[in-house]
Amino acid sequence: MLNAQHLSHNFGPHWALKNVSFRLDKGDFLFLCGPSGAGKTTLLRMLYGALPVYRGSLSVAGFDLRNLKTRQLPALRRQVSVVFQDFKILPRRSVYDNIAIALEVRCLQRVHIDRRVRAVARGLGLENRLAAPCGELSGGEQQRVAVARAVVVNPQILLADEPTGNLDPELALRMLDIFRQFHSYGTTVIVATHNRELVERHPGARVLRLDEGKITYANWTGAEIFEGSEAEDAW
Ligand SMILES: Nc1ncnc2c1ncn2[C@@H]1O[C@H](COP(=O)(O)OP(=O)(O)OP(=O)(O)O)[C@@H](O)[C@H]1O
Ligand SMILES: [Mg+2]
Repeated sequence: MLNAQHLSHNFGPHWALKNVSFRLDKGDFLFLCGPSGAGKTTLLRMLYGALPVYRGSLSVAGFDLRNLKTRQLPALRRQVSVVFQDFKILPRRSVYDNIAIALEVRCLQRVHIDRRVRAVARGLGLENRLAAPCGELSGGEQQRVAVARAVVVNPQILLADEPTGNLDPELALRMLDIFRQFHSYGTTVIVATHNRELVERHPGARVLRLDEGKITYANWTGAEIFEGSEAEDAW
């Protein structure tokens, strides 16, 4: 489902990812941990084709990202859905529109769109906010809209960048339950997080820690730990 080998990425002179190698199978659930600036967002951006692969190789959901053509990007994005760290929702549009937009670009029938939007909104406790402009929502509500928009398309892979950052502990756990629910349908899930409690609540998950762009801890054998790393757990 996902194979990254010797992946490196630099912004000018700064190497944000250094020789990162790991594999995931379909249906795996991965927590991506590590301090601020460790390279989590950079790695996620590479996985959905927002940053080019110049060093190393990367395949995701059957796409070779090193040789991905711009015209293949929409097809990749149909398989790989993202909850962005900064949400990227449209503040003037309603909650309903923000969720439906992901389906509208796929030319689905209006009645199908409506059914799916309402089902996902219900699952995330947004059913009474569907008409509200997103700009008027609380941070936590906006975050749930961002999650709804990502999951409504039934992606093969769901990427979430710090999805619980603005949520109180109870909502954060509810959010995790939503990811686990999608995971139980067979979706591969990758969650970048600083939230230790989330990770501890999901003992079966794979955990990868990045430090200064290098893998310094992994709890399964499909990841290559940077030589000389001494981290004994994800924290
Ligand atoms: N567009 C960019 N231009 C220049 N440097 C960047 C850019 N994006 C990220 N970086 C740098 O790359 C490193 C990794 O950043 P990244 O955003 O991947 O970290 P992160 O682990 O997601 O951190 P956080 O937990 O704060 O979100 C940082 O040192 C950051 O300053
Ligand atoms: Mg980040």
